[in-house]
Amino acid sequence: MAAASSKGRKTIFYCSNCGYESTKWMGQCPGCHEWNTFVEEPGGTGRTAQGQFRRKKTLARPVRLADVTAETNERTSTGFSELDRVLGGGIVTGSMMLIGGDPGIGKSTILLQVCKNLAGRGKTVLYISGEESLAQIRMRADRIGGQADSLYLLCETNLADIRQIIEEQKPDVCVIDSIQTMYNEEVSSAPGSVSQVRESTAVLLMLAKGLGISVFIVGHVTKEGAVAGPRVLEHMVDTVLYFEGDRHASYRILRGVKNRFGSTNEIGVFEMRGSGLVQVENPSEYMLSGRPVDASGSVVTCAVEGSRPLLLEIQALVARTGFGMPRRTAAGTDYNRVNLLAAVLEKRCGIDLSNYDTYVNIAGGIRMTEPALDLGITMAIASSYQDIVIPEKLVAFGEVGLSGEVRAVSQVENRVMEAKRLGFETVVLPKANMKSCKSIQGIRMIPVETVREAILIR
Ligand code: TYD
Ligand code: MG
Repeated sequence: MAAASSKGRKTIFYCSNCGYESTKWMGQCPGCHEWNTFVEEPGGTGRTAQGQFRRKKTLARPVRLADVTAETNERTSTGFSELDRVLGGGIVTGSMMLIGGDPGIGKSTILLQVCKNLAGRGKTVLYISGEESLAQIRMRADRIGGQADSLYLLCETNLADIRQIIEEQKPDVCVIDSIQTMYNEEVSSAPGSVSQVRESTAVLLMLAKGLGISVFIVGHVTKEGAVAGPRVLEHMVDTVLYFEGDRHASYRILRGVKNRFGSTNEIGVFEMRGSGLVQVENPSEYMLSGRPVDASGSVVTCAVEGSRPLLLEIQALVARTGFGMPRRTAAGTDYNRVNLLAAVLEKRCGIDLSNYDTYVNIAGGIRMTEPALDLGITMAIASSYQDIVIPEKLVAFGEVGLSGEVRAVSQVENRVMEAKRLGFETVVLPKANMKSCKSIQGIRMIPVETVREAILIR
């Protein structure tokens, strides 16, 4: 804090992406390496809301581990099994959950549905919105349908008032939509700034832990620097979920990024309908719907998210380049990985892509970067290049190494069973994985050692 004067207001620069603090402006954030994210905010006066709140509380006493009752791991179902799985089995009492995502992706919708489900089971729920009016929320609630007697709405952005109401009403579950609209008088910067967002979260966190209220916080992912993104508070909350998906496509994926009460990397799949979000319990079927028949460059692969196998269609298009420099693009997967796999095909399989543009796409707009997708990507590129159709009922997965070898992947049995369940007849898999799925009957398995072998499969 050398730059600040000793008595007057200090000025602090924050990275609006990750919350990195600095006494001077910087072009690139050393924390998250984003450019142009630093914003100037008045520094704290020491009278932060968090500090005030702490002082008011009675002194906490240490408790013996053995004396802590099982009450803490009590879970409440949200009414959506897809969401429960991502949360690790339901809402933990007194936990704080952050739901991030682009504006308009459906965060308010899913939380209102969860509120209705919980209220329908007799829980007292308080939905606090700083973005919409009561009438707007009512309209959305009407679209979703269903009855909810113990669901209370509040349009408020002043955190001191919100705190008072929560303390009086003591709801079981509380929703804050969104944290970027909340305003704390003790902090001099504008709503949505890094210090406001942090302070507000700290106050809510203490309310949640102190009163045993489960709190959902909505955080918009923003591109411009003025509003702090949800990453700023990831470390403070118990669970971080991100809502992903193309705003124009109807399905949405809820991904766990951090979870103090369960595993991460679990996903939940939803579909946006006219009457709100509907969970998709059979996502493989959903992802493969609308698949072209008899088209070259299309291969089905199997990715695993958490414990859940997911069949996906990889599409590749290899077309003669119009310019001297061939183009490569990757939609839904890692661009550098696609370049690497194209190089492997050139060097190890004699497929000369130097005069061809190569486009790779994971159908459905989903994003996956698992190494097990490698074999599918190389087979799709080769299929498009040679213009040879890969059998419709074939699934291929495996990691591809730089020498063109196909390497073992995890959870093979899981993947093969998913392919079988959806009526696929052939699985192309790494030879090293064959041992673990000897017992599976009723599906043809083709073990491969190299990419060269795999692209000859017809
Ligand atoms: P919303 O939950 O308001 O997004 P967020 O809170 O993440 O900003 O979602 C708004 C979008 O969802 C909007 O584009 C309309 C669409 N939608 C439906 O398609 N069906 C519905 O029943 C509802 C409530 C919203
Ligand atoms: Mg909203």
